[in-house]
Amino acid sequence: MIGSVVIVIFGATGDLARHKLIPALFSLYKHGELGEQFFIVGFSRRDITDQAYGESLAEELQFATDPKWASFAKKLYYQQGLFDLQEGYDALIKRLNGFDEQLGACITRLFYLATPPDHYESILNFLHSTKLSEGCGQGSSKWTRIAIEKPFGKDLETAKHLDAKLAQIFEEKQIFRVDHYLGKETVQNMIAFRFANSVFESVWNNQHIDHVQITWAEKEGIGKRGRFFDGVGMLRDVMQNHLMQLMATVTMESPKSFEKESVRNVRANAIKAIRSLTPKEITTHVVRGQYNGYLSEKDVKEGSQTETFVAMKLFVDSERFANVPFYLRAGKTLEKEKMEIAIVFAKNRNVLFHEHGYPDFGNILTIRVQPDEGIRLRMIAKKPGTSLALEPVDMEFSYEQSFGSGGTDAYEKVLRDIMVGDQMLFNRSDELESSWQLISDILKSWEQQASETLLLYEKGSWGPQEAFGLIEKDGRKWL
Ligand code: BG6
Repeated sequence: MIGSVVIVIFGATGDLARHKLIPALFSLYKHGELGEQFFIVGFSRRDITDQAYGESLAEELQFATDPKWASFAKKLYYQQGLFDLQEGYDALIKRLNGFDEQLGACITRLFYLATPPDHYESILNFLHSTKLSEGCGQGSSKWTRIAIEKPFGKDLETAKHLDAKLAQIFEEKQIFRVDHYLGKETVQNMIAFRFANSVFESVWNNQHIDHVQITWAEKEGIGKRGRFFDGVGMLRDVMQNHLMQLMATVTMESPKSFEKESVRNVRANAIKAIRSLTPKEITTHVVRGQYNGYLSEKDVKEGSQTETFVAMKLFVDSERFANVPFYLRAGKTLEKEKMEIAIVFAKNRNVLFHEHGYPDFGNILTIRVQPDEGIRLRMIAKKPGTSLALEPVDMEFSYEQSFGSGGTDAYEKVLRDIMVGDQMLFNRSDELESSWQLISDILKSWEQQASETLLLYEKGSWGPQEAFGLIEKDGRKWL
């Protein structure tokens, strides 16, 4: 159970707050995890009242008819303020002090930065200068926590700068660098799946695995998020964080225990082991695309070179995975919604079956992150009949069928863990530095080549043709 807490959401009218954070908090409340002693304060530029903020959320999220909404909405407050002007912060202090007085206690304060990243520095500076960062009575930092959304910086340099700023204001135990993919049920299950099932653990290496594919495909375009997305792009928005973390779940070694630093250590080592690309490899191993129609989306700058699709081939410098290629692709407006990891095992070397319809691929283990969370193992079987013919068949595990639900929502997990102070599923700076190192090299190379490397693709496709070439030139195919 979470103790008394006040959650201040900077960027309260933005997409993340409205569509992810508020619904997750409401769900925690409905499940009795938030208790009754909490306050949520949305902080944003728009000039609206507490009541209007609650009503706009209820209408948009269609919560108004939920029997629990009315009591939840009483805990919702709204503070108008500009991120780079002192006034809003002064008013916020008064409000937060009022909550402490109301409960007669120092309430833990959680500051959640859900704004576009260019506001982080200004908000952090004001949290510091107004002493909001020090919490109740301004003088006891143990009562505050800061949650900071990805992308954490724009490149390696800005990530280091942001980290130094955070370290100047908060202690490490107060800092929660959010990557909500770490809170996804299937991602968390990877540790259990890999290390609790000896049948997989023993073949989890380059002797048996031919290659790995990670597909992160969204059907939707950028919608109303142009102001956030344009200039950020797919590489920073999801490759640097979500896809690197998915890759780490495949390549990391077993943690010694479920103690937070032990898990963070193996994750950090896994990301560090991803080999950086040379300037030449960046031109041959990375494909960058933009969907046709992106330039007419709301809040996208004229002639924008922001990518909405990236595919790349990477290697890992570890004994277990030496020479196993990892093919990653992430894109918007693709043919269908599909986020999954496919471990493609080497083909059977026994020629016995090769004349009897042995498929192009050997066994494939697919971990479906979403939708329809689950795991599928593709095997090869004899088709019933008098002659010998082979065909692939699937063994399925579905979360929904086995457990009656796809699992806890990732943001519920993220928010709950922050409120109870558990940092295991949050990034440490060394993980971020390693992934930024790789990504920053690519960004620099793209800057130099600008438009030549940006390929147009049609909505509803699987990205530019060159993304197929990336894998097909190695004699393999996207699944
Ligand atoms: C966010 C990205 O981190 O993840 C978005 O900024 C993306 O661009 C979103 O749409 C997807 O999250 P989920 O949990 O719906 O897969």
